[in-house]
Amino acid sequence: MSLTPIGEPRQKITVATLREKKNNRLPITCLTAYDYPSARLVDEAGIDIVLVGDSLAQTMLGYENTLTVTVDEMLHHTRAAHRAVKHAFLVADMPFGSYHTTEEEAVQHALRFVKEGGAEAVKIEGGEKRANLIRTIIDAEIPVTGHIGLTPQSVNVMGGYKVQGKSLKAIEQLMRDAVALDRAGVACIFLEGIPREVAAMITAEVSTPTIGIGAGPECDGQVLVFHDLLNLTFGPPAKFVRRYGDAAAVISEAVQSYRADVMSRQYPNDHESYHLPKDTLTALEMVRERKRHISHT
Ligand code: KIV
Repeated sequence: MSLTPIGEPRQKITVATLREKKNNRLPITCLTAYDYPSARLVDEAGIDIVLVGDSLAQTMLGYENTLTVTVDEMLHHTRAAHRAVKHAFLVADMPFGSYHTTEEEAVQHALRFVKEGGAEAVKIEGGEKRANLIRTIIDAEIPVTGHIGLTPQSVNVMGGYKVQGKSLKAIEQLMRDAVALDRAGVACIFLEGIPREVAAMITAEVSTPTIGIGAGPECDGQVLVFHDLLNLTFGPPAKFVRRYGDAAAVISEAVQSYRADVMSRQYPNDHESYHLPKDTLTALEMVRERKRHISHT
């Protein structure tokens, strides 16, 4: 159900709207989208945040993890999403390596996402240790969203995709990370793969909206990967994924039916074919008849 009264134009979602939603305890909705049709459908469905996540490395490009995707590849998808999104807040992921060298380079890359990609904010993985960099990017007038907990760009450091924040020490670090991002002024904090109890503590502690994925229901909002939601990942889903549709089944069935119709010559039929105007057809028949006549004499 949409909260927008019928007939009223939909509001553009901004950093301020996200904060208002947290303050008014209104859930924030977020989905990834990486191309024009998916971003358009997500936006038109009333989702608050469209995230061009670097998960597109796996979901769209078939890479093994997010580490290889480049700034140019991310920009290509961000531009496509930007052409589709009218109301949602458009966030683009800064890929691995694009903010890990110098601050100058990180700001240059962030600027490209805004100027060339049309993003309204960039997302950076990491907490306390990224806080100064995040401040610098915000100083360049670019809103930043944070991302802590299970941060896929650190897969090799974490030793796999494991739920984070399970020990007291890890909880303390996560709290410090969340507070550092809150103080740095991020637009929202993505909490990925952490126990529900820890996400609830963070959400209560910070004034920045928290958006959870595998972080339980107490977050200020939720995000899912579009391909997880629709069964387009070709693998078993993580525990937190709820499938809301089976696009793989819909697409497979449609493609198989098309193939069968072509093989049995049932596609295309006469209604699906273009026809000559009557007078051209008559003239053509006459030409062909004349040719037949000549070849028989
Ligand atoms: O890349 C992505 O899709 C993400 C979300 C899972 C938060 O970072």
